[in-house]
Amino acid sequence: MSAETQKQQQQQQQQQALHSGMKRHFYSQHSSTQGNAVDLCREMLLQAATDMPLPSNTTTTDNQANAALHGEQQQHGCHCCCCINVAEWGCSHGANSIAPVALTAEVLQQRLAVGCSMYSRNFPRASLSLGFSFSSLHWQSSSAVRLSRTVNPGCSKTTPEEHAALRAHAISDLSAFLRLRGEEFVPSGLLLLCYVGYSDAVPLSECGSVSGVESLLSGMAFHDAAQAVAEGMVADGLLQLEDLGSMAAPVYFLDEASQRGVYADVADTWELLSFDIVDNVSPMRREYQEGRASNEQQAAPQVFVNFWRALMEPFMQQGLARPAAGRSAADVAALLATFFERMTAAALANLQPASYPAARVLLRRAG
Ligand SMILES: C[S@@+](CC[C@H](N)C(=O)[O-])C[C@H]1O[C@@H](n2cnc3c(N)ncnc32)[C@H](O)[C@@H]1O
Repeated sequence: MSAETQKQQQQQQQQQALHSGMKRHFYSQHSSTQGNAVDLCREMLLQAATDMPLPSNTTTTDNQANAALHGEQQQHGCHCCCCINVAEWGCSHGANSIAPVALTAEVLQQRLAVGCSMYSRNFPRASLSLGFSFSSLHWQSSSAVRLSRTVNPGCSKTTPEEHAALRAHAISDLSAFLRLRGEEFVPSGLLLLCYVGYSDAVPLSECGSVSGVESLLSGMAFHDAAQAVAEGMVADGLLQLEDLGSMAAPVYFLDEASQRGVYADVADTWELLSFDIVDNVSPMRREYQEGRASNEQQAAPQVFVNFWRALMEPFMQQGLARPAAGRSAADVAALLATFFERMTAAALANLQPASYPAARVLLRRAG
């Protein structure tokens, strides 16, 4: 045994001795003094996370990603924006290490606005063991499919032709996403996805038709509420009919058969460990259901409208401000204000707190 190997073994034994015989979590529960050391460095850590260099916001093509992430293109000032490695040396059972990670993540959250598209290669080949995507995979890679007269493809007035084109786009995006991630994960790596996706038990055509029964899709009535408000503004001469499609966000919610078809297609790369579709009910809605809602009449419509607004306003703004419409920024702001006022009134008249069907998928990288 070489002196070097002997030294490494001794170090490993020392490390094991430090925690051997201890009950699980005992170290974590009795190391607040060590935890205080993290607190003592809090400001320094926040400053370091603020000052550390970030990779530039250069997006990478499929083929560039690997080389770029290994620094091969740094001489051209081009490297991927999505891979930031942070390390701690000496992390015991981990509890005291989570705090600095959380602090760092908080700062990074503010510094990282928009990264690479998830429909391109983002990480080096075989570099990921665990990954997840929440509430994002129903966003399309492009706005290639434009709606004619509806403010959202979830609306019951979206045409069958538009549905067909959007569905094909969504299927191709989900496949591309999985193929790309397939390159980035190590064998047996796990990928958890949660996105808006329908169960075939409730056909898409029923979206928005609230029957009073608590159906899986009843909460999706907000798409039709927005459509009704937009059509009302057309009737009042505030909007043109072309505005409606131009305000839509590039999202689509796949039916279960299409989703399963994609997972079957990529089965050579991703083993489907579990798949189900559950109702994602906003906490506010649960409060009504359980009779715990306070200040229900004021708060609920606002929750509902703000849920929509947070997601859709940037796209509505962009659509209304398109050059062909010839509007000033003030005109656009006034139209948006009217739209959301009317949506709040509609929500007050017919309470529909946000909820939607969420597909939950767990995949394991084959190989
Ligand atoms: C509804 S938000 C979900 C954000 C967060 N995961 C959450 O759970 O609150 C959808 C996110 O997907 C992002 N997104 C949409 N298309 C994307 C794309 N092609 N590549 C990367 N991110 C995208 C949007 O910018 C947005 O941040």
